Amino acid sequence: MDARVVALPLDITNPNAVAGAAATATDVDLVINNAGIAPAGDSITGPDEEARLIFETNFFGTLRVATAFAPILAANGGGTLLNVLSSSAWAPVPTVYAASKAAAWSATNALRLQLHGQGTQVVGLLVGMIDTPMSARWDVPKTAPASVVTQAYDGISDGALEVLADDETRQLRSLLGSPAEKSFPYLAEQLAFFTA
Ligand SMILES: NC(=O)c1ccc[n+]([C@@H]2O[C@H](COP(=O)([O-])OP(=O)(O)OC[C@H]3O[C@@H](n4cnc5c(N)ncnc54)[C@H](OP(=O)(O)O)[C@@H]3O)[C@@H](O)[C@H]2O)c1
Repeated sequence: MDARVVALPLDITNPNAVAGAAATATDVDLVINNAGIAPAGDSITGPDEEARLIFETNFFGTLRVATAFAPILAANGGGTLLNVLSSSAWAPVPTVYAASKAAAWSATNALRLQLHGQGTQVVGLLVGMIDTPMSARWDVPKTAPASVVTQAYDGISDGALEVLADDETRQLRSLLGSPAEKSFPYLAEQLAFFTA
């Protein structure tokens, strides 16, 4: 591994651990919020405790890391914060995971304005299925992780505010402008496998 790379243990649901990582990694100018969970059996009508666990990682954890590292990015010239989100933020996927990513998308947009004055580029990365352990239980087409990573870094260097890493995500983005009465029947058909 490159000698400049220092791996730190980090549980983003633990405020002390996040503060500790920020106290150590004071030289960073790029923060990528990649951590996320998508437990099997997750349902938007599932138990409260599971919903809180998912939000604790995907929403509060992401926001906690952004908040802890914002002053470090400022001190290092502004830098970049990239939050790994999901196209499920823009679709009627019946999971708490999707709701947590919608909340994280909103927070990403809010952070972009909040950190604008300090010169931080805040990027939302949205993508459908990526071929990782998280999506192993779904037998659907998936994007290669390397492609997502390449698009993310290209987006950062191009000054992008959003990186949409597959065709499905780009289509969902365009549907945001359509009335729900028009888009819902189409999306319900596309996403029927979630409730089958
Ligand atoms: N796979 C997909 O289809 C897909 C699609 C859209 C978006 N995404 C998003 O892409 C990101 C990466 O997911 P993935 O596909 O690589 O899933 P994954 O294979 O399940 O990996 C999840 C990663 O998040 C880390 N993590 C989970 N909870 C954490 C915590 N509390 N603190 C620190 N790290 C934690 C895990 O670390 P450990 O291994 O140490 O537990 C692991 O490195 C997530 O934000 C996910 O929502 C994935």
